[in-house]
Amino acid sequence: MLGPTSARQATSPFARLNERLAGVAPGLPPINLTIGEPQHPVPAFVAPVIAENIALFGRYPPMRGTDAFRGTVARWLDRRYSLATAIDPESMVLPLNGSREGLVLAALAARQRRPEIDRPVVLLPNPFYQAYAAGAEVAGAEIVLLDDGADGRAIPDLSRICEDVLSRTIALYIASPAAPQGDVATTDDWTRVLETARRFGFMVFADECYSEIYRDVPPPGVLQAADRLGDGYAGVLTFHSLSKRSNLPGLRCGFVAGDPDFLGAWMRFRNIAAPQVPGPIQAVAVAAYEDESHVAENRALYNAKYEAAAAILGPNVRPKTPAGGFFLWLEVGDGEDAAVRLWQEAGVRTIPGAYLALPRPDGSNPGTPYIRVAMVQDLATTQEALTRMARVLG
Ligand SMILES: Cc1ncc(COP(=O)(O)O)c(C=O)c1O
Repeated sequence: MLGPTSARQATSPFARLNERLAGVAPGLPPINLTIGEPQHPVPAFVAPVIAENIALFGRYPPMRGTDAFRGTVARWLDRRYSLATAIDPESMVLPLNGSREGLVLAALAARQRRPEIDRPVVLLPNPFYQAYAAGAEVAGAEIVLLDDGADGRAIPDLSRICEDVLSRTIALYIASPAAPQGDVATTDDWTRVLETARRFGFMVFADECYSEIYRDVPPPGVLQAADRLGDGYAGVLTFHSLSKRSNLPGLRCGFVAGDPDFLGAWMRFRNIAAPQVPGPIQAVAVAAYEDESHVAENRALYNAKYEAAAAILGPNVRPKTPAGGFFLWLEVGDGEDAAVRLWQEAGVRTIPGAYLALPRPDGSNPGTPYIRVAMVQDLATTQEALTRMARVLG
């Protein structure tokens, strides 16, 4: 079920798709559903907040974030996850220039934290967000790919991993909602992951950047499980982003929160190596985390698109409405073949699932039967794309 894999095998799925579709003309005016780049409107408060704070572009921003940024994020986490042990804004929160750079660079810090391990391992779900593989690469670690849990949810089950691998593991990446499948980890799932991670001394990097894009029920967070276990936030980092929550992928702003010792050590490295978040952008983040109404509107827009998908793709294609995220993960037989036909016959650009995963040791790729459809366009465009897709796939 698993085996060591080199991070170098992971490539950008978009570059790979461009190569595959080079010279193939779209059958209709193109609709791009490949990139998970939200196209809903930028919230109205963004421009005035940037204007009010424009002078801050004249200053180098503080790497550890402004007091307002860290305080607002800590309060948001306490509220969102009803935490009994409050997040300390002084030691448990750092701003990120988008969560991607944090997800990559944290692996290096996880490596530095466990120098005694000879052949370090990073555990990844499969399929996975490609930045995790970049993290493994900068850390000089082998990748071990995790299968879905026995119940078919894209939440890995660490009890199936042998102790030799776990004892060499420096970090586990785990996304909830899972990307692209949209499955959500329960508090019990998180608790089991944390117990194993603490037993073997590796870091849990919880990618929760889709946490606010859910259908009905807010996904439980890793911090909730840590809070429930009662030993503070050691060994846990959660990564969040305004890209998906607030339709601000171009703002490049997110945060990491959790283990104060890890963040303290990482901070010293980040101070000389990592990108700071500009002052006006941190001010926008403060406004964004103080407001939930634009997030609720955003959820309603995505939910309407899942309803459209169920109605339009219907019984033949049988789209699954996931608990979280904004992707359709459609089982279509051969995903690469379907992606080529959708482009060629309908002008709809989607990603073959295999491009988002790595082959298992036996050569099989868990993404092969799927395509990923990012439902990021407005409702009318999405309906048009779904209607065309139904014709090709139905
Ligand atoms: C699963 C997942 N994690 C993290 C990110 C990084 O987002 P950002 O760097 O914009 O915060 C993305 C972006 O597409 C993603 O899909």
